[in-house]
Amino acid sequence: MPAISVTDRAGETTSIEAKTGDSLMVILRDNGMDELLALCGGCCSCATCHVYIDPAFAASLPPMSGDEDELLDSSSYRNETSRLSCQVKMTDALAGLKVTIAPED
Ligand code: FES
Repeated sequence: MPAISVTDRAGETTSIEAKTGDSLMVILRDNGMDELLALCGGCCSCATCHVYIDPAFAASLPPMSGDEDELLDSSSYRNETSRLSCQVKMTDALAGLKVTIAPED
């Protein structure tokens, strides 16, 4: 399984094994990152799974849907690396990815 590194809101970075085919949201939740609320369960309607993604991997990410873009606009903490982690599926191309959990709105 490829590994990714995750930085939580306290600034602590952890390396975790990421199952390909799962969304980053599921991977983070399965690895105890409870501060990622993911209230809608991954159906792209809550924006509580907001993360920042290492820009070095931008080309390997799936394109952003209009719904994801709109939801991210509702966050005061959106930046150019923002994604909803439930909308990004883990692939081998994302091995070594660095993810930072965005502040809570
Ligand atoms: S879990 Fe709700 S938008 Fe991602």
